Amino acid sequence: MARILAFFCFFSLSCICSHARLPPSPRSSNATADELALLSFKSMLSSRLLDSWNTSSHYCSWPGVACGRRHPDRVISLQMGSFNLSGHISPFLGNLSFLRELDLRDNQLIGQVPPELGRLGRLQLLNFSANFLQGEIPTEIGALKNLYILNLEENGFSGGIPHSLADLPSLEFLFLSNNRLFGEIPSSLGTSPL
Ligand SMILES: *[C@@H]1O[C@H](CO)[C@@H](O)[C@H](O)[C@H]1NC(C)=O
Ligand SMILES: *[C@@H]1O[C@H](CO)[C@@H](O)[C@H](O)[C@H]1NC(C)=O
Ligand SMILES: *[C@@H]1O[C@H](CO)[C@@H](O)[C@H](O)[C@H]1NC(C)=O
Ligand SMILES: *[C@@H]1O[C@H](CO)[C@@H](O)[C@H](O)[C@H]1NC(C)=O
Ligand SMILES: *[C@@H]1O[C@H](CO)[C@@H](O)[C@H](O)[C@H]1NC(C)=O
Repeated sequence: MARILAFFCFFSLSCICSHARLPPSPRSSNATADELALLSFKSMLSSRLLDSWNTSSHYCSWPGVACGRRHPDRVISLQMGSFNLSGHISPFLGNLSFLRELDLRDNQLIGQVPPELGRLGRLQLLNFSANFLQGEIPTEIGALKNLYILNLEENGFSGGIPHSLADLPSLEFLFLSNNRLFGEIPSSLGTSPL
């Protein structure tokens, strides 16, 4: 009897808990994380083109930002090539968990690529070409299982090519020229079955 009672208590408690966890507002916490990520991204950059990234309009309508159809408040693409962005890339971008395209080509980005970008499990395209990024290519990029195109050309990357890149199952196009990379090309790169 006591056991049955305990089971019931546990069961009804967990029901209450899962009800209590329902978000009070229509916006999910992940959507809030998306907005925070974009505002953090903006805060580390300077560009006139980011003036309209302000809370007077929904972030899905900010220039360069696109949100999903099935998940209308989740950011799926950042297309900001030639936006005259100067500054560092915010690690908060790693919270855009629905992001499929990250195109920041042809800007004046400096500093390192945040390893947090390795959390973008849905990312298919990453184009950072023609910037002033430095340091090593983070090993964490090798965790992007859906990455199809990786373009890091024309930056100041140094060090070796991470072996983790060779494990990327979806990678079809890899551009690394015009950097200061050295060392071996991982032998498994380019030999993975298509
Ligand atoms: C929502 O965010 C949490 C972390 O805050 C993450 O663990 C979870 O995977 C996210 N869910 C979706 C659907 O992106
Ligand atoms: C906020 O964005 C709007 C465009 O959506 C723009 O007209 C306005 O000038 C911006 N405000 C500031 C303070 O930059
Ligand atoms: C690009 O940004 C710099 C300052 O960061 C500014 O001096 C320059 O005028 C901008 N160029 C364009 C084309 O907006
Ligand atoms: C987003 O990312 C940053 C840095 O990677 C982290 O500190 C922050 O807690 C994350 N979550 C939210 C909801 O912004
Ligand atoms: C990446 O950007 C470069 C210009 O910097 C462009 O030539 C190239 O086509 C872009 N690649 C993709 C796949 O978007």
